[in-house]
Amino acid sequence: MPSRRRAPLVVEIEVTRRREFSRRLRAWFRKHGRDLPWRRTRDPYRVLVSELMLQQTQVSRVVDYYARFLTRFPTLHHVAEAPRRDVLKSWAGLGYYARARNLHALAKHVTRDGGAIPDDPETLRALPGIGAYTAGAVASFAYERRAALVDTNVERVLHRVFLPTLDPRSSRAQRAGWAIAEQLLPRTGKAAWAHNQALMELGALICTARVRHCARCPVARICETRATDMGEAAPPQR
Ligand code: ADE
Repeated sequence: MPSRRRAPLVVEIEVTRRREFSRRLRAWFRKHGRDLPWRRTRDPYRVLVSELMLQQTQVSRVVDYYARFLTRFPTLHHVAEAPRRDVLKSWAGLGYYARARNLHALAKHVTRDGGAIPDDPETLRALPGIGAYTAGAVASFAYERRAALVDTNVERVLHRVFLPTLDPRSSRAQRAGWAIAEQLLPRTGKAAWAHNQALMELGALICTARVRHCARCPVARICETRATDMGEAAPPQR
């Protein structure tokens, strides 16, 4: 009897194309990337706080909360030693309080073991509230590890550029997003830091859920949505 399971999706991006994608993206980011406070630090605690705050929350709102929170809780130890209600109080107004509860639990767990925030995605994922995206983000943005990351913005960009015909809501599409993100990573961790930040930035400023600013896009030349002439005229996928 034939198997009902679909064959795994093999997405292989040609090496010259992936290099061109990353090179163009990073050059654009050097010129147009925003100077955001969490991009000026490699402190794992600060990176983690920024990434938790940025989940479901706009950058412009996070900037103030981030600064205030770090004044009140300058290190992970300060979070661990504070009563949970104090951490929640400093989070008040940002919403999604599970993030603050998880941060408090994570701080207690990590400091109890006398350790630091781990640097590899697999160990990070075992901590409270850390999913695949956040694990990749902390590994890359704090430790400059050569780690991939995919959130909904990155996924949308990668689908538009490389897989415009795949239904973005399918589980195959989600797996393909990670497979592509891994392949696109430049060789060094330092370059991967800029590549990942740039990918996030492209999704935030150019290739947004609502609008595609293809005329200003650094990777329009190698974008399949653009090549099929759907570009800015294409209906939004999500
Ligand atoms: N959203 C999540 N992480 C981000 C980052 N490092 N910069 C901008 N927006 C983000």
